[in-house]
Amino acid sequence: MEPANDRHASAPEAPNASRAMPGALRRSGGLRWHGRALRRWRLHEPFRRSIHAFLQAWQPDGSDLILLGPSAGWFLPSAFLRRFSRLILVELDTSAPFFFSLRHGRALQQSGTTLEWLQADLVTVLPYLLAAHRSATVLFCNVLGQLGLERGDYESRLAEISGLLEGRSWASFHDRFSARLPIDRLANANAFSTATPMDAAMLQRLGCSGEWTDHGTGTVLPPGILRHYFPWRIVPDRFHWVEAGIVQ
Ligand SMILES: C[S@@+](CC[C@H](N)C(=O)[O-])C[C@H]1O[C@@H](n2cnc3c(N)ncnc32)[C@H](O)[C@@H]1O
Repeated sequence: MEPANDRHASAPEAPNASRAMPGALRRSGGLRWHGRALRRWRLHEPFRRSIHAFLQAWQPDGSDLILLGPSAGWFLPSAFLRRFSRLILVELDTSAPFFFSLRHGRALQQSGTTLEWLQADLVTVLPYLLAAHRSATVLFCNVLGQLGLERGDYESRLAEISGLLEGRSWASFHDRFSARLPIDRLANANAFSTATPMDAAMLQRLGCSGEWTDHGTGTVLPPGILRHYFPWRIVPDRFHWVEAGIVQ
C-alpha cells in the first residue's frame, strides 16, 4: 500500500532520557486515533475545512516540508502537500505511514513528491533536522498540544520551539484549550482571528465557562503573530479550541 517514493529511517541518537518511544498504540495518536478520525469524519468536517483553508492560504517558498506529528494526514489537504517535492515526516505512531499512504499516496505519486519517514520523538530530532535541511519549511500538525501526553518536560520544550525556528518559515495548529461539554453547548461557536493570545479571560468572554484544560501551548507562537482560533468538536461531548498561526 505504500507508494514507491516512501523511505523510512530511524531516529539519530541524541542524549535525552525522557524521549517518547515509537509504537502504534499511544495516548496521543496511533490506531485509536485513526479509528476516531474515520468514525467521526462528519463531525470533524467543519474543523477539517478550517484547517484546509488555513493551509491553502499559506504560500511558503521552498520545495521541502518537514511535517511534525502528521499521523495519516486526515486533516491535511493533498493539494497543499503536493506543492512540495519532498516531505520529511516525523511520527511516533508506527502505523501512520500506512494510513498516510492510503489517504495521500496516489496524489503524491502523481506530483512526484517523495516521502521520508522518521519514526521518532520530534523533540529529540527537530534540532538535527533543522541543521540538515536549512531551507525546509516546517509544519506542526496538531501535535504540540499533545506533547504533555508523551513527555514530562513538555512545558519547557514548548517554550523553546519558536527560538529553534528563528529565521525559518513555519506554521503550527495545536490544541490550546479543551473541555468536556454537552453537544448543545457552544454549538454555534465560530472561528476567529486575533493578535491577542487566548487565555482564561478570553474564554470567559467567549462564554466558555466550566473547567477547561490548558494544553500548555500559550508560548508556541511568538508575540505579535496573528492567531486563528478554530472550534473543534472532537467527539460529541468534548470541545477544543485549536490555535493556528504562520510565522514567516
Ligand atoms: C492529533 S494527531 C495529529 C493528527 C493529524 N494532524 C491528522 O491530520 O491526522 C497527533 C499526532 O502526533 C504524534 N505525536 C505526539 N507526540 C509526538 C512527538 N513527541 N513526536 C512525534 N510525533 C508525536 C502522535 O503519534 C499523533 O499521530
